Amino acid sequence: MRALMRETYLGTEHLIAPLFMVANADAKNPIKSLPGQYQLGLNALLSEIEESLNAGIQSFVLFPAVDDYLKDKTGTYGFQSDNFYLQAVREIKSRFPEAYLISDVALDPYSSDGHDGYVDNGKIDNDKTLPLLARQALAQAEAGFDMVGPSDMMDGRIGYLRSALDQNGYTEVSIMAYTAKYASAFYGPFRDALDSAPKSGDKKTYQMDPANGREAIREALLDEEEGADVIMVKPALCYLDVIQALRQQSTLPIAAYNVSGEYAMLKAAAANGWIDENKAMVEMLISIRRAGSDMILTYFAKAYAKLVKSGYAYH
Ligand code: PBG
Repeated sequence: MRALMRETYLGTEHLIAPLFMVANADAKNPIKSLPGQYQLGLNALLSEIEESLNAGIQSFVLFPAVDDYLKDKTGTYGFQSDNFYLQAVREIKSRFPEAYLISDVALDPYSSDGHDGYVDNGKIDNDKTLPLLARQALAQAEAGFDMVGPSDMMDGRIGYLRSALDQNGYTEVSIMAYTAKYASAFYGPFRDALDSAPKSGDKKTYQMDPANGREAIREALLDEEEGADVIMVKPALCYLDVIQALRQQSTLPIAAYNVSGEYAMLKAAAANGWIDENKAMVEMLISIRRAGSDMILTYFAKAYAKLVKSGYAYH
């Protein structure tokens, strides 16, 4: 009877697995604050994608962990077409054309300042950042990404990227806009994974105030107007009300990012025997769907898919 009346369905097709990459092809470095997640060199990355595809996960968002000596103020390495990130994408696409690949567009993985935007005299220069983001997005489209994911929160970048992509013939490359991305404490483990924490200051001049809900609607309407194909709320769990509000205001598909800190909290409690990991994971993910998201970026993607395959029935 519970199954007949269940309102919300979470399938593996709704999940997107974030993966971290490094240049050394043979590496598989555990990330201490993200148990079960690794910095993957090309070989381990290809195995991880194959295993995930077999488990039923078809979409991936890729993040590069770049060595410090390659970082500079404009994030030049991000738009070098032979960088390890873009080379890996070509390799994945030739081996697994069915894998749907989403990029990360932002300066922080490549920036000596550790900020998502260009830093000028201690301030983020929004408009100087836009052409740098466009160069990244174009290099990513050229390498074979299906969708670009601007996670930087600069104003006006969705429209700017859409026209740059269109003018260069990438009309079929979609944009997943990190629309309502909050200045959150829950990104800590991700910054460990990429060693991308800001060198000075914080991200509060471009990421949103956790106290604001209406502002998320304004951001969503702007991104929709500028040509976003998907709008995102990030993090997910403290912002379920924001997901629900955007669901009511926009007809676009909604993504929610179940971020690193949310994953780490559950993993830590489970490792201590304080919580049932599988039950808590499913409840967490279902709640994000119930709030109104279509797709969920989550470090639990493969674990959930394997659980479903094993015949696990929740509640
Ligand atoms: C930065 C970026 C961040 C995440 C994705 N892209 C961190 C930040 O804004 O500092 C966080 C994802 C996570 O915590 O899982 N462009």
